[in-house]
Amino acid sequence: MSLSTFDDNSDQWRGSSKRGIPWEIYQGDAVTVLKNLSNSSHEKFDCVITSPPYYWLRDYGVEGQIGHENTIDGYVRAIAEVMDEVNNMLTNDGTLFLNLGDTYYSGKGKSHGIDPKNTARRFGLRAVDASGLGVPRKTMIGIPWRVALEMISRGWVLRSSIIWVKEKSLPESVMDRPRRKYEFIFMFVKDRHYYFKREPIQGEEDVWHIPDKPNSMSRGKHNAAFPDKLVQRCLDIGCKEGGLVLDPFAGSGTTLRVSIESGRPAIGIDLSTDYCRSMYESLSEL
Ligand SMILES: C[S@@+](CC[C@H](N)C(=O)[O-])C[C@H]1O[C@@H](n2cnc3c(N)ncnc32)[C@H](O)[C@@H]1O
Repeated sequence: MSLSTFDDNSDQWRGSSKRGIPWEIYQGDAVTVLKNLSNSSHEKFDCVITSPPYYWLRDYGVEGQIGHENTIDGYVRAIAEVMDEVNNMLTNDGTLFLNLGDTYYSGKGKSHGIDPKNTARRFGLRAVDASGLGVPRKTMIGIPWRVALEMISRGWVLRSSIIWVKEKSLPESVMDRPRRKYEFIFMFVKDRHYYFKREPIQGEEDVWHIPDKPNSMSRGKHNAAFPDKLVQRCLDIGCKEGGLVLDPFAGSGTTLRVSIESGRPAIGIDLSTDYCRSMYESLSEL
């Protein structure tokens, strides 16, 4: 049974749902926590479903957060290094679903101002507003593919670049290019043989139409939460019954909650104590 209160002095919390499905939460940097789990011979994961911070899009307000690197390569390397540790902790027949979005280079030289999704915080001069990023002004940077290619070069097998059509998402306000309606979900594996079930996506294959509305549990707690349906679909095709699931950038804990509700134990890592607390609270209700 889970504890009823969140112990602030700890950096790890565990519990189980009423149906007896266990979960664990670790507060810390994803690379460090994954290395510790590996050193302590923690059980490996069957499926990883995650959405890292995008490049210069949000400020999570925590020291050491990924997403605020001064160079594009610095960001690509930071994500790839987390994924190296994920690779180490993934079973040989495991799968990784990695959701990534792109960023435009403004290069205006002016501060972007207040993070629109976090009015409490003000960005300084973001690297994507300052001059000298090494790409032309106004270009889409191509972040998702840069990360994917780096991961391939480090040994990951990219099996699919799924397009998530974000139904019902708020349109961008831009007038001089098409407004973005989709993001990538890269499906990576380690080996030629891995768990995969195609039936649940028959007809949709690699284009998934899923409304981008925050799920009820995370509404107000996290402004970049996954829709439940997206996590469920990844589990349906890429995770065996009862398989162990990881989200190394767990946020409000959508991946953990949906996994537990489907009878799969789950582990979440997040750098932010506040998100660990809200994750703890939502999992304790299961
Ligand atoms: C896009 S959000 C994940 C949202 C999540 N999919 C959900 O459904 O709520 C990314 C998360 O990564 C966390 N984060 C940032 N840098 C991190 C790091 N170095 N290690 C672990 N977590 C980090 C942030 O605190 C944030 O909660």
